[in-house]
Amino acid sequence: MNSARYNQRPNMRHEQVTFLDNKEKPTSRKKSGVILGVLFALLVLAAVTGILVWLFVFKDRELRGTVSNQRVPAQRAFSGYLKLVNLQYDPKLEDPKTTEFSDLAEDIENHLENKYKNADLLSKYYTKSVVTAFSEGVLAYYWILFDIPATDLEILPQFSEYRVLDVMKKSLKELGKRSGQHLQISNFTVSRTDPRMVRNPRADNECFIRLEANTLVQSFYSPGYPSLYQSLTRCQWQLRASGQNVISVRFLDFHIEDDCINDYVFIYDSLSPDETQAITQKCGQRPPSNPLEVVSSGNIMLINLVTDSSVQGYGFRANYSVIPLTTSKSCGGYLSDSQGNFSSPQYPSFYPPAVDCIWTIKVPQGKQVRVKFTMFRLKEPGVDTRVCHKDYVEIMDIKYCGEMTSLALSSTSNTLDVRFHSDQSYTDKGFLALYVAFDPANPCPNQFACKTGFCIKKELHCDGWNDCGDRSDEMDCKCEKDQFRCANGMCKPNYAVCDHVDDCGDGSDENQCSCEMTEWKCGDGTCLPRDVLCDTNVDCLDGSDEKSCKDSAGVCNDFSFKCKDGACVNKMNSECDQVKDCTDGSDELGCDCGIRPYKLNRIVGGENAQLGEWPWQVSLHFLTNGHVCGASIISNKWLLSASHCFRTNSPDNHEPSNWQTYSGMQDQFKQDNVQSRSLKNIITHPDYNQMTYDYDVALLELSQPLEFSSTIQPICLPASTHLFPSGMPCWVTGWGTLREGGSVARLLQKASVKIINDTVCDVVTEGQVTSRMLCSGFLSGGVDACQGDSGGPLVCVEDSGKWYQAGIVSWGEGCARRNKPGVYSRVTKLRDWIRTMSGV
Ligand code: ARG
Repeated sequence: MNSARYNQRPNMRHEQVTFLDNKEKPTSRKKSGVILGVLFALLVLAAVTGILVWLFVFKDRELRGTVSNQRVPAQRAFSGYLKLVNLQYDPKLEDPKTTEFSDLAEDIENHLENKYKNADLLSKYYTKSVVTAFSEGVLAYYWILFDIPATDLEILPQFSEYRVLDVMKKSLKELGKRSGQHLQISNFTVSRTDPRMVRNPRADNECFIRLEANTLVQSFYSPGYPSLYQSLTRCQWQLRASGQNVISVRFLDFHIEDDCINDYVFIYDSLSPDETQAITQKCGQRPPSNPLEVVSSGNIMLINLVTDSSVQGYGFRANYSVIPLTTSKSCGGYLSDSQGNFSSPQYPSFYPPAVDCIWTIKVPQGKQVRVKFTMFRLKEPGVDTRVCHKDYVEIMDIKYCGEMTSLALSSTSNTLDVRFHSDQSYTDKGFLALYVAFDPANPCPNQFACKTGFCIKKELHCDGWNDCGDRSDEMDCKCEKDQFRCANGMCKPNYAVCDHVDDCGDGSDENQCSCEMTEWKCGDGTCLPRDVLCDTNVDCLDGSDEKSCKDSAGVCNDFSFKCKDGACVNKMNSECDQVKDCTDGSDELGCDCGIRPYKLNRIVGGENAQLGEWPWQVSLHFLTNGHVCGASIISNKWLLSASHCFRTNSPDNHEPSNWQTYSGMQDQFKQDNVQSRSLKNIITHPDYNQMTYDYDVALLELSQPLEFSSTIQPICLPASTHLFPSGMPCWVTGWGTLREGGSVARLLQKASVKIINDTVCDVVTEGQVTSRMLCSGFLSGGVDACQGDSGGPLVCVEDSGKWYQAGIVSWGEGCARRNKPGVYSRVTKLRDWIRTMSGV
């Protein structure tokens, strides 16, 4: 970073030399002249160095904020409020431009300066204090700044909130006389804050905006919106409302660089950037289906925008208005219907800070209550979710917090109390809960009752799969002859044993299959003598014996990644893993793929995909038939799909003009931000076999390129040597039918499926799979792709966070049937053909 800053001014030194030369030439060549010249040169050099140092230090401070480093000076900022007694509140104090404001602010600033300039240790580093606002009470919001030179960095740990507070505690006395009254400070809060968030509303050229919220919905924007925001933005919005109101802010569009350290929006339930009254800190991009919406606890709110030197976002557009205080916190109550729902206050907005509610659910005598949370997010930095000492939901003496996907509980009597508590700092989306009365003698009529309180289909009881979530449906089951009994009591089909997938959940089906000590276990479970390892010969079918071999670094085999310059890399999935493995860097080229720009809140239950969750998914419409197949975006001009969508007995299917493609789509009936493109060319694989579905792959060339956006992105294609190990959880998406013989979906669906071991795949498909195919799904059935998903992608996320396409939906026997997993075209085997035909 440092070197970069010097590089920005490469000609500084150069200019200075030229300047001296010019000056020197026309005058004399005498010695004295030379000495004078040298002296002058030294002076100029000193001045330029000074400017450089100043620039460097100043800019560095701006950037670094609270991060300290051995060689650069540090800044410490503290903010909070102090309470003034004996002072009548004057609304004029709300405007920093009034003399009322500046008079009182200056008094307080002088007082603070006086105290801190005389406090031992702190005095030496004190820079300035600024009062930024007043509110009823009378509260004065302030910040204090300390500058610590690079030579004194060892002092930093002593800059504690406690020490700063202590100075004021000792002098909570008189502030001075005002219209005959003795002004006193009665209370004082301090919390450390990021120096990038301190603003002076009385200074010129500050990005400081005051907003008055009322019942009308008004808007505000980050500077430059909807264009990219500026680098090094430091903006502050002070929001106020009258009397008995709270403020609600809804961010309709939110796009900040995805790194909350350098770029962020920080919202406070105060007029100071005070950690103890933080509402939330956010960055990243949010889809319209999950807007950020926050509520204050009182009639003030502070919003900060901080950005670094690289610009990677459009900022935000927000609406603000008021909610009456009485309704904003209204929550809890008495629920006596036999079923219903309830949620945290203001749901789906963030709940306000500092609220307490109790819901008492009472169902008829003899019945009991079951509560199921379909959304539960009470996350707060630094909270141990086993203790939940901050915000929580409390049921039957147990506190719950954090994020939960399947919280469901049953009462032991006909009443149940649910408490909700939010403290002063940090809020979140909260919860949505459903409750139902049930008969304890028959809690799940015609269904199986899980211990969690869930009811599941009878057939799922003792089917070898943990459907309840707590395995209660798989306890005490009698295993059939063709089943294996897991250590935890579950029954699994015999072929699940030693298939490299932990089907039991406790590993017992994979335990007895480990290879002998003298053997090496290949990725597919085969045991081979240990000396096959790294002998430069590929012995395992998947090449795993020659991956990651130090000695064979650079040795080429069929499973090595081939760099552009011909060198070989023997490391598992080395392409686009953000590590440069090829000396020519070719393993990290073309890696602008497989990312999901939107921040998505997981919504529990249901398998509807969210907008932007699968930005490479494409819907293919045929003539007037609507959606018929899926595809994936692999570049702005090319889509990947299945041959069988085009090579039918009807030549019409092979005609590009009969097709229309839709990218960025989630709802088949909505066209907002969807990019529709026609086809220029359809390339099906020459070896595609209509009988066996072998080589079921097609490339579609678009007539016009796509414009990538937050909902339209390409998927990464794996190198032909990429391994997707069996057991790996991947996702299949599409608008295909929701069940065998059903009708196609309106909303994009997603399902998590596991890669199935090739040997098992061969067994369950009775030998119908070729090496261009792979199985994915669950042998228990229940989750699968179906008619209309064909051509769509099967994608898996790697540790680097990038998504790769492992398969193309191809065929299956029925849908989601037991022991009949989905069969997909294996992208790694078709990778080279894709490159040859499309150049991608
Ligand atoms: N061939 C089907 C289609 O045209 C896809 C079938 C996928 N079936 C499955 N069970 N995974 O849409």
